[in-house]
Amino acid sequence: MNVHPTLEEGKHLKIINVVGARPNFMKMAPIIKAMDRYPDQIEHLLVHTGQHYDRKMSKAFFDDLGMPKPDIDLGVGSGSHAEQTGQVMVKFEQVCLKERPDLVIVVGDVNSTMACTITAKKLAIRVAHVEAGLRSGDMGMPEEINRLCTDVLCDYLFTTDAGADENLRAEGVADEKIVFVGNVMIDTLLHHKAMAEKLTTCRDMGLEAGHYAMLTLHRPSNVDDKKTLNGIFEALAEIAGQLPIVFPIHPRTRKMMDKFGLSYYLAPRADGKGIIVTEPLGYLEFLHLQMQARMVLTDSGGLQEETTVLGVPCITLRHNTERPITVDEGTNVVIGNDKQRILGAANEVLEGRDVAGRVPEKWDGKAAERIVEWLLGNA
Ligand code: UD1
Repeated sequence: MNVHPTLEEGKHLKIINVVGARPNFMKMAPIIKAMDRYPDQIEHLLVHTGQHYDRKMSKAFFDDLGMPKPDIDLGVGSGSHAEQTGQVMVKFEQVCLKERPDLVIVVGDVNSTMACTITAKKLAIRVAHVEAGLRSGDMGMPEEINRLCTDVLCDYLFTTDAGADENLRAEGVADEKIVFVGNVMIDTLLHHKAMAEKLTTCRDMGLEAGHYAMLTLHRPSNVDDKKTLNGIFEALAEIAGQLPIVFPIHPRTRKMMDKFGLSYYLAPRADGKGIIVTEPLGYLEFLHLQMQARMVLTDSGGLQEETTVLGVPCITLRHNTERPITVDEGTNVVIGNDKQRILGAANEVLEGRDVAGRVPEKWDGKAAERIVEWLLGNA
Protein backbone atom coordinates (compact mmCIF):
# COMPACT_ATOMS: atom_id res chain seq x y z
CA MET A 1 0.00 0.00 0.00
CA ASN A 2 1.25 3.45 -0.88
CA VAL A 3 0.21 5.93 1.80
CA HIS A 4 1.63 9.40 1.48
CA PRO A 5 3.01 10.56 4.87
CA THR A 6 0.78 13.66 4.99
CA LEU A 7 -2.44 11.87 4.08
CA GLU A 8 -5.23 11.12 6.46
CA GLU A 9 -5.18 7.48 7.53
CA GLY A 10 -8.18 5.30 6.69
CA LYS A 11 -9.44 7.83 4.15
CA HIS A 12 -11.60 6.44 1.36
CA LEU A 13 -12.90 8.48 -1.55
CA LYS A 14 -15.18 7.26 -4.31
CA ILE A 15 -14.55 9.44 -7.33
CA ILE A 16 -16.19 9.65 -10.75
CA ASN A 17 -13.84 11.07 -13.39
CA VAL A 18 -15.61 12.55 -16.40
CA VAL A 19 -14.38 12.87 -19.99
CA GLY A 20 -16.37 13.79 -23.07
CA ALA A 21 -14.44 15.33 -25.90
CA ARG A 22 -10.97 14.96 -27.37
CA PRO A 23 -9.21 17.67 -25.32
CA ASN A 24 -10.42 16.02 -22.10
CA PHE A 25 -8.60 12.74 -22.57
CA MET A 26 -5.02 14.00 -22.22
CA LYS A 27 -6.04 15.99 -19.15
CA MET A 28 -7.64 13.05 -17.39
CA ALA A 29 -4.98 10.41 -18.22
CA PRO A 30 -2.38 11.60 -15.64
CA ILE A 31 -5.05 12.11 -12.96
CA ILE A 32 -6.15 8.49 -13.29
CA LYS A 33 -2.55 7.35 -13.16
CA ALA A 34 -1.91 9.40 -10.02
CA MET A 35 -5.07 7.97 -8.39
CA ASP A 36 -3.93 4.44 -9.12
CA ARG A 37 -1.06 4.98 -6.68
CA TYR A 38 -3.57 4.97 -3.82
CA PRO A 39 -5.81 1.94 -4.45
CA ASP A 40 -6.78 1.63 -0.79
CA GLN A 41 -7.84 5.23 -0.48
CA ILE A 42 -9.32 6.03 -3.86
CA GLU A 43 -11.90 4.07 -5.79
CA HIS A 44 -12.44 5.66 -9.18
CA LEU A 45 -14.76 5.19 -12.11
CA LEU A 46 -14.32 6.69 -15.56
CA VAL A 47 -17.41 8.05 -17.31
CA HIS A 48 -17.22 8.98 -21.01
CA THR A 49 -20.19 11.09 -22.06
CA GLY A 50 -19.67 10.17 -25.71
CA GLN A 51 -19.67 13.82 -26.86
CA HIS A 52 -16.86 12.76 -29.19
CA TYR A 53 -17.46 9.29 -30.56
CA ASP A 54 -15.48 8.81 -33.81
CA ARG A 55 -12.59 6.39 -33.33
CA LYS A 56 -10.09 9.05 -34.35
CA MET A 57 -11.58 11.67 -32.01
CA SER A 58 -11.93 9.31 -29.07
CA LYS A 59 -10.78 5.67 -28.90
CA ALA A 60 -7.44 6.36 -30.60
CA PHE A 61 -6.59 8.69 -27.70
CA PHE A 62 -7.38 6.10 -25.08
CA ASP A 63 -4.99 3.72 -26.84
CA ASP A 64 -2.21 6.30 -27.23
CA LEU A 65 -2.48 7.51 -23.67
CA GLY A 66 -2.75 4.04 -22.13
CA MET A 67 -6.03 5.07 -20.49
CA PRO A 68 -8.39 2.46 -19.08
CA LYS A 69 -11.56 1.82 -21.07
CA PRO A 70 -14.40 3.95 -19.68
CA ASP A 71 -16.41 2.09 -17.04
CA ILE A 72 -19.55 3.81 -18.29
CA ASP A 73 -20.19 5.29 -21.74
CA LEU A 74 -23.21 7.59 -21.92
CA GLY A 75 -23.15 7.49 -25.73
CA VAL A 76 -24.56 10.99 -26.09
CA GLY A 77 -23.03 12.00 -29.45
CA SER A 78 -23.65 15.21 -31.39
CA GLY A 79 -26.55 17.61 -31.23
CA SER A 80 -27.32 21.24 -30.57
CA HIS A 81 -25.78 22.68 -27.41
CA ALA A 82 -29.00 22.28 -25.46
CA GLU A 83 -29.58 18.76 -26.76
CA GLN A 84 -26.04 17.63 -26.01
CA THR A 85 -25.94 19.27 -22.58
CA GLY A 86 -29.41 17.99 -21.69
CA GLN A 87 -28.67 14.44 -22.82
CA VAL A 88 -25.48 14.33 -20.75
CA MET A 89 -27.35 15.64 -17.69
CA VAL A 90 -30.18 13.10 -17.95
CA LYS A 91 -27.80 10.17 -18.38
CA PHE A 92 -25.18 11.32 -15.88
CA GLU A 93 -27.85 11.79 -13.21
CA GLN A 94 -28.66 8.08 -13.44
CA VAL A 95 -24.98 7.24 -12.99
CA CYS A 96 -24.63 9.51 -9.96
CA LEU A 97 -27.78 8.11 -8.35
CA LYS A 98 -26.55 4.56 -8.81
CA GLU A 99 -22.91 5.08 -7.89
CA ARG A 100 -23.26 7.78 -5.21
CA PRO A 101 -19.69 9.08 -5.48
CA ASP A 102 -18.10 11.37 -2.87
CA LEU A 103 -16.66 13.51 -5.62
CA VAL A 104 -16.93 14.12 -9.37
CA ILE A 105 -13.91 15.44 -11.27
CA VAL A 106 -14.40 17.38 -14.50
CA VAL A 107 -11.70 18.82 -16.76
CA GLY A 108 -11.55 21.58 -19.35
CA ASP A 109 -14.44 23.55 -20.79
CA VAL A 110 -16.52 21.39 -23.09
CA ASN A 111 -20.29 20.88 -22.87
CA SER A 112 -19.79 17.63 -20.95
CA THR A 113 -17.76 19.49 -18.30
CA MET A 114 -20.59 21.88 -17.51
CA ALA A 115 -23.38 19.31 -17.86
CA CYS A 116 -21.84 16.89 -15.36
CA THR A 117 -21.03 19.68 -12.92
CA ILE A 118 -24.62 20.92 -12.81
CA THR A 119 -25.97 17.39 -12.49
CA ALA A 120 -23.70 16.38 -9.62
CA LYS A 121 -24.16 19.61 -7.68
CA LYS A 122 -27.95 19.28 -7.81
CA LEU A 123 -27.53 15.87 -6.19
CA ALA A 124 -25.36 17.46 -3.48
CA ILE A 125 -22.24 15.70 -4.74
CA ARG A 126 -18.99 17.66 -4.51
CA VAL A 127 -17.30 18.57 -7.79
CA ALA A 128 -13.70 19.47 -8.58
CA HIS A 129 -12.77 21.34 -11.77
CA VAL A 130 -9.34 20.83 -13.25
CA GLU A 131 -8.21 23.78 -15.39
CA ALA A 132 -10.42 26.24 -13.52
CA GLY A 133 -10.34 30.03 -13.76
CA LEU A 134 -9.42 30.43 -17.43
CA ARG A 135 -11.36 33.31 -18.99
CA SER A 136 -11.38 34.65 -22.53
CA GLY A 137 -13.92 37.35 -21.65
CA ASP A 138 -15.73 36.34 -24.83
CA MET A 139 -19.28 35.26 -24.12
CA GLY A 140 -19.73 34.40 -27.79
CA MET A 141 -17.60 31.33 -27.13
CA PRO A 142 -19.60 28.34 -25.87
CA GLU A 143 -16.56 27.26 -23.85
CA GLU A 144 -16.57 30.56 -21.90
CA ILE A 145 -20.14 29.90 -20.79
CA ASN A 146 -19.14 26.37 -19.80
CA ARG A 147 -16.15 27.69 -17.80
CA LEU A 148 -18.20 30.27 -15.90
CA CYS A 149 -21.04 27.88 -15.05
CA THR A 150 -18.64 25.15 -13.99
CA ASP A 151 -16.44 27.31 -11.79
CA VAL A 152 -19.27 29.03 -9.97
CA LEU A 153 -20.61 25.65 -8.88
CA CYS A 154 -17.45 23.69 -8.11
CA ASP A 155 -16.15 22.98 -4.62
CA TYR A 156 -12.50 22.66 -5.58
CA LEU A 157 -10.87 24.68 -8.34
CA PHE A 158 -7.50 23.43 -9.57
CA THR A 159 -5.70 26.06 -11.62
CA THR A 160 -2.86 26.12 -14.13
CA ASP A 161 -1.48 29.59 -13.35
CA ALA A 162 -1.70 32.57 -11.03
CA GLY A 163 -3.78 34.53 -13.56
CA ALA A 164 -6.56 31.94 -13.25
CA ASP A 165 -6.44 32.29 -9.44
CA GLU A 166 -6.87 36.03 -9.83
CA ASN A 167 -9.84 35.58 -12.19
CA LEU A 168 -11.57 33.36 -9.68
CA ARG A 169 -10.91 35.72 -6.77
CA ALA A 170 -12.25 38.62 -8.83
CA GLU A 171 -15.48 36.60 -9.25
CA GLY A 172 -15.73 36.22 -5.48
CA VAL A 173 -14.53 32.63 -5.14
CA ALA A 174 -13.22 31.90 -1.65
CA ASP A 175 -9.45 31.45 -1.42
CA GLU A 176 -9.66 28.03 0.19
CA LYS A 177 -11.40 26.58 -2.88
CA ILE A 178 -8.58 27.61 -5.25
CA VAL A 179 -5.52 25.38 -5.60
CA PHE A 180 -2.74 26.26 -8.02
CA VAL A 181 -1.42 22.87 -9.13
CA GLY A 182 0.03 23.42 -12.62
CA ASN A 183 -1.03 21.93 -15.93
CA VAL A 184 -2.18 18.32 -16.27
CA MET A 185 -2.04 18.51 -20.07
CA ILE A 186 1.65 19.24 -19.77
CA ASP A 187 2.04 16.20 -17.48
CA THR A 188 0.84 14.13 -20.43
CA LEU A 189 3.04 15.94 -22.91
CA LEU A 190 6.20 15.48 -20.85
CA HIS A 191 5.37 11.85 -20.22
CA HIS A 192 4.95 11.08 -23.94
CA LYS A 193 7.54 13.38 -25.47
CA ALA A 194 10.33 10.82 -25.82
CA MET A 195 7.91 8.26 -27.24
CA ALA A 196 6.60 10.76 -29.80
CA GLU A 197 10.11 11.75 -30.79
CA LYS A 198 10.86 8.19 -31.93
CA LEU A 199 8.00 8.04 -34.44
CA THR A 200 8.72 8.40 -38.12
CA THR A 201 5.51 10.22 -39.10
CA CYS A 202 7.31 13.33 -40.32
CA ARG A 203 9.67 11.37 -42.57
CA ASP A 204 6.88 9.04 -43.72
CA MET A 205 4.92 12.06 -44.90
CA GLY A 206 7.94 13.25 -46.91
CA LEU A 207 8.46 16.24 -44.59
CA GLU A 208 11.62 17.65 -43.14
CA ALA A 209 11.81 18.69 -39.47
CA GLY A 210 11.51 22.48 -39.13
CA HIS A 211 10.29 22.87 -42.69
CA TYR A 212 6.54 22.60 -42.37
CA ALA A 213 3.73 24.18 -40.36
CA MET A 214 0.89 22.51 -38.46
CA LEU A 215 -2.66 23.77 -38.60
CA THR A 216 -5.76 23.05 -36.56
CA LEU A 217 -9.04 24.89 -37.02
CA HIS A 218 -12.46 24.09 -35.64
CA ARG A 219 -13.90 27.02 -33.64
CA PRO A 220 -17.40 28.03 -34.78
CA SER A 221 -16.15 31.67 -34.95
CA ASN A 222 -13.66 30.63 -37.66
CA VAL A 223 -15.37 27.83 -39.53
CA ASP A 224 -19.10 28.53 -39.39
CA ASP A 225 -19.00 31.69 -41.55
CA LYS A 226 -18.11 31.36 -45.23
CA LYS A 227 -16.41 34.74 -45.64
CA THR A 228 -14.25 34.29 -42.55
CA LEU A 229 -13.28 30.75 -43.47
CA ASN A 230 -12.45 31.78 -47.03
CA GLY A 231 -10.24 34.65 -45.80
CA ILE A 232 -8.34 32.31 -43.51
CA PHE A 233 -7.75 29.86 -46.36
CA GLU A 234 -6.63 32.62 -48.72
CA ALA A 235 -3.88 33.39 -46.19
CA LEU A 236 -3.07 29.72 -45.61
CA ALA A 237 -2.80 29.02 -49.33
CA GLU A 238 -0.19 31.80 -49.60
CA ILE A 239 1.80 30.53 -46.63
CA ALA A 240 1.61 27.00 -48.01
CA GLY A 241 3.39 28.25 -51.14
CA GLN A 242 6.50 28.69 -48.97
CA LEU A 243 6.02 25.98 -46.38
CA PRO A 244 3.86 22.85 -46.48
CA ILE A 245 1.03 23.00 -43.92
CA VAL A 246 -0.11 19.76 -42.30
CA PHE A 247 -3.81 20.00 -41.52
CA PRO A 248 -5.48 17.21 -39.51
CA ILE A 249 -9.02 18.27 -40.22
CA HIS A 250 -11.73 18.34 -37.55
CA PRO A 251 -15.08 16.78 -38.60
CA ARG A 252 -16.85 20.09 -38.03
CA THR A 253 -14.45 21.95 -40.34
CA ARG A 254 -14.65 19.29 -43.03
CA LYS A 255 -18.44 19.62 -43.01
CA MET A 256 -18.34 23.41 -43.24
CA MET A 257 -15.76 23.45 -46.05
CA ASP A 258 -17.93 21.07 -48.06
CA LYS A 259 -21.05 23.09 -47.33
CA PHE A 260 -19.44 26.40 -48.41
CA GLY A 261 -17.82 24.89 -51.51
CA LEU A 262 -14.32 25.67 -50.16
CA SER A 263 -12.91 22.14 -50.27
CA TYR A 264 -10.81 23.00 -53.32
CA TYR A 265 -8.32 24.61 -50.89
CA LEU A 266 -7.67 21.11 -49.57
CA ALA A 267 -6.97 19.41 -52.89
CA PRO A 268 -3.54 17.72 -52.91
CA ARG A 269 -0.87 19.35 -55.09
CA ALA A 270 1.24 17.37 -57.51
CA ASP A 271 4.50 18.55 -55.86
CA GLY A 272 3.36 17.34 -52.40
CA LYS A 273 3.51 20.92 -51.05
CA GLY A 274 0.58 23.13 -50.13
CA ILE A 275 -1.96 22.12 -47.52
CA ILE A 276 -1.59 18.46 -46.61
CA VAL A 277 -4.89 17.25 -45.21
CA THR A 278 -5.03 14.27 -42.89
CA GLU A 279 -7.73 12.68 -40.77
CA PRO A 280 -7.64 13.69 -37.08
CA LEU A 281 -4.32 12.30 -35.79
CA GLY A 282 -3.63 10.26 -32.68
CA TYR A 283 -2.02 11.95 -29.68
CA LEU A 284 1.51 10.69 -30.29
CA GLU A 285 1.57 11.34 -34.03
CA PHE A 286 0.25 14.83 -33.49
CA LEU A 287 2.82 15.54 -30.79
CA HIS A 288 5.59 14.22 -33.03
CA LEU A 289 4.58 16.56 -35.85
CA GLN A 290 3.98 19.49 -33.53
CA MET A 291 7.35 19.36 -31.82
CA GLN A 292 9.26 19.50 -35.11
CA ALA A 293 7.08 22.07 -36.85
CA ARG A 294 8.44 25.49 -37.83
CA MET A 295 5.21 26.98 -36.50
CA VAL A 296 1.72 26.04 -35.42
CA LEU A 297 -1.37 27.91 -36.62
CA THR A 298 -4.39 27.13 -34.49
CA ASP A 299 -7.62 28.15 -32.83
CA SER A 300 -7.35 25.44 -30.19
CA GLY A 301 -6.82 26.18 -26.51
CA GLY A 302 -4.52 23.30 -25.66
CA LEU A 303 -2.08 23.83 -28.52
CA GLN A 304 -1.26 27.29 -27.23
CA GLU A 305 0.00 25.61 -24.07
CA GLU A 306 1.75 22.68 -25.73
CA THR A 307 3.69 24.91 -28.14
CA THR A 308 4.79 27.07 -25.21
CA VAL A 309 6.36 24.07 -23.52
CA LEU A 310 7.85 22.73 -26.77
CA GLY A 311 9.24 26.16 -27.70
CA VAL A 312 7.45 26.11 -31.07
CA PRO A 313 6.04 29.44 -32.36
CA CYS A 314 2.25 29.49 -32.12
CA ILE A 315 -0.03 31.76 -34.13
CA THR A 316 -3.48 31.76 -32.62
CA LEU A 317 -6.26 32.56 -35.07
CA ARG A 318 -8.60 34.04 -32.48
CA HIS A 319 -9.37 37.51 -31.18
CA ASN A 320 -8.69 36.57 -27.57
CA THR A 321 -7.31 33.80 -25.43
CA GLU A 322 -8.26 32.33 -22.09
CA ARG A 323 -4.61 31.37 -21.76
CA PRO A 324 -2.76 34.73 -21.70
CA ILE A 325 0.21 33.16 -19.92
CA THR A 326 1.14 31.53 -23.26
CA VAL A 327 1.50 35.03 -24.71
CA ASP A 328 3.15 36.66 -21.66
CA GLU A 329 5.60 33.83 -21.01
CA GLY A 330 5.32 31.43 -23.94
CA THR A 331 5.61 31.40 -27.71
CA ASN A 332 2.06 32.42 -28.57
CA VAL A 333 0.75 35.42 -30.52
CA VAL A 334 -3.00 36.00 -30.73
CA ILE A 335 -3.83 37.68 -34.00
CA GLY A 336 -7.47 37.08 -34.97
CA ASN A 337 -8.57 35.74 -38.34
CA ASP A 338 -7.86 38.58 -40.78
CA LYS A 339 -5.95 37.47 -43.87
CA GLN A 340 -3.25 40.17 -43.73
CA ARG A 341 -2.61 39.64 -40.03
CA ILE A 342 -2.22 35.91 -40.54
CA LEU A 343 0.26 36.49 -43.35
CA GLY A 344 2.13 39.08 -41.27
CA ALA A 345 2.46 36.77 -38.28
CA ALA A 346 3.62 33.83 -40.40
CA ASN A 347 6.23 36.03 -42.10
CA GLU A 348 7.58 37.16 -38.72
CA VAL A 349 8.29 33.51 -37.93
CA LEU A 350 9.66 32.69 -41.37
CA GLU A 351 12.02 35.66 -41.10
CA GLY A 352 13.23 34.41 -37.72
CA ARG A 353 11.56 37.02 -35.53
CA ASP A 354 9.56 34.58 -33.41
CA VAL A 355 9.46 34.95 -29.64
CA ALA A 356 11.53 32.72 -27.41
CA GLY A 357 9.33 31.82 -24.47
CA ARG A 358 9.83 30.14 -21.12
CA VAL A 359 7.93 27.35 -19.43
CA PRO A 360 5.42 28.65 -16.85
CA GLU A 361 5.68 27.77 -13.16
CA LYS A 362 4.55 24.25 -12.20
CA TRP A 363 4.15 23.10 -15.81
CA ASP A 364 6.54 20.40 -14.75
CA GLY A 365 4.78 17.05 -15.15
CA LYS A 366 3.58 16.85 -11.53
CA ALA A 367 0.21 18.63 -11.62
CA ALA A 368 -1.88 15.44 -11.40
CA GLU A 369 0.12 14.21 -8.41
CA ARG A 370 -0.50 17.55 -6.68
CA ILE A 371 -4.24 17.27 -7.36
CA VAL A 372 -4.54 13.76 -5.98
CA GLU A 373 -2.44 14.46 -2.91
CA TRP A 374 -4.44 17.59 -2.20
CA LEU A 375 -7.71 15.69 -2.53
CA LEU A 376 -6.55 12.98 -0.16
CA GLY A 377 -5.51 15.57 2.37
CA ASN A 378 -8.46 17.92 2.01
CA ALA A 379 -11.52 16.57 0.18
C1 UD1 B 1 -15.80 20.44 -28.88
C2 UD1 B 1 -15.70 21.44 -27.73
C3 UD1 B 1 -14.48 22.32 -27.95
C4 UD1 B 1 -13.23 21.49 -28.19
C5 UD1 B 1 -13.48 20.55 -29.34
C6 UD1 B 1 -12.27 19.69 -29.63
C7 UD1 B 1 -17.80 22.22 -26.74
C8 UD1 B 1 -18.75 23.35 -26.68
N1 UD1 B 1 -16.86 22.31 -27.67
O1 UD1 B 1 -16.08 21.19 -30.05
O2 UD1 B 1 -14.29 23.11 -26.80
O3 UD1 B 1 -12.15 22.35 -28.47
O4 UD1 B 1 -14.60 19.72 -29.01
O5 UD1 B 1 -12.48 18.88 -30.73
O6 UD1 B 1 -17.93 21.28 -25.99
N2 UD1 B 1 -18.25 15.30 -34.76
C9 UD1 B 1 -17.97 14.11 -35.39
N3 UD1 B 1 -17.36 13.13 -34.68
C10 UD1 B 1 -17.02 13.26 -33.37
C11 UD1 B 1 -17.31 14.49 -32.74
C12 UD1 B 1 -17.91 15.49 -33.44
O7 UD1 B 1 -18.26 13.94 -36.57
O8 UD1 B 1 -16.46 12.33 -32.79
C13 UD1 B 1 -18.90 16.37 -35.51
C14 UD1 B 1 -20.38 16.38 -35.24
O9 UD1 B 1 -21.08 16.46 -36.42
C15 UD1 B 1 -20.63 17.63 -34.44
C16 UD1 B 1 -19.43 18.50 -34.78
O10 UD1 B 1 -18.37 17.62 -35.15
O11 UD1 B 1 -21.82 18.25 -34.76
C17 UD1 B 1 -19.02 19.30 -33.59
O12 UD1 B 1 -18.81 18.46 -32.45
P1 UD1 B 1 -19.09 19.01 -30.96
O13 UD1 B 1 -18.67 18.02 -29.95
O14 UD1 B 1 -20.46 19.54 -30.90
O15 UD1 B 1 -18.16 20.27 -30.86
P2 UD1 B 1 -16.68 20.48 -31.35
O16 UD1 B 1 -16.73 21.49 -32.44
O17 UD1 B 1 -15.97 19.19 -31.59
